[in-house]
Amino acid sequence: MFKIGVLVSGGGTNLQAIINSINNGFIKNAKIETVVSNKDNVFALERAKNNNIETKVIKVKDFDNKQLYEQALIKYLKEKDLDLIVLAGFMVILSKEFVNSFENKIINIHPSLIPAFCGEGYYGLKVHQGALDRGVKITGATVHFVTEEADAGPIILQKEVFVKDDDTKETLQKRVMEEAEWIILPQAINLILNKQIKIVDNIVRRI
Ligand code: GRF
Repeated sequence: MFKIGVLVSGGGTNLQAIINSINNGFIKNAKIETVVSNKDNVFALERAKNNNIETKVIKVKDFDNKQLYEQALIKYLKEKDLDLIVLAGFMVILSKEFVNSFENKIINIHPSLIPAFCGEGYYGLKVHQGALDRGVKITGATVHFVTEEADAGPIILQKEVFVKDDDTKETLQKRVMEEAEWIILPQAINLILNKQIKIVDNIVRRI
C-alpha cells in the first residue's frame, strides 16, 4: 500500500479531491496515512476526520524557532514511513533541511501555470489577482516536486484554464480549482505511485 501524508492549512478541497479519488478507485492501492495541519480548526481536518484519517496539528508557535518546528514535523512524518508527502494548500515555507529529508517525495499544487505568478509572495488570491492584473488570457494550475526554492521544482503536470473578461480573483480561483487543481493533483499522484515518471536534469520525463 502506497502511503500518502497530506499537509494542509485551510479548507482542504485538494485533500478532498485525493480522498474522492481513492474512494472512487481512480487512485488504487493507496492510503492517506495522515493529514497534518499547522493550524487548529481548519476544515481540512474535518474532512480527514469524516473519512477516518488520522490527523495531527503541529504549530510553528509551539516551538522556540522554525528549525525546531520543522524537526518535529520531520520526525512525525518519518515515523509514518510515507511514500509521498502532498502539500495541499500548506502555508508554511519549508527549509532545505526539510526538503532534503524527503528527497523527490514531496509535491505541491500551485494555482497558476508556473513559471507565471509563482514564488515568494504569490499565494492564495494574490496569484489570481496577479493573473488578472497582467491580463493573461490563460492561467491554470501546476503540480510540481518541491525543492528548496519556492515553486521552482520539476513540473509534473499542468492544466490550463481560460480567463473570462468578467472574472474576479474569487471566480478565477474557484474555476482554477474546479477545472485544474482537483483534476491534476490525483493524476500526478497516480504518475508517481505507478512509477510512470522520473526526474532527469530537473525535468520530469515519462518512463
Ligand atoms: C489551492 O489553491 C492550492 O493551489 C494552493 O492553496 C489552495 C488550497 O486550497 N496551494 P484547499 O485548502 O485545498 O481548498
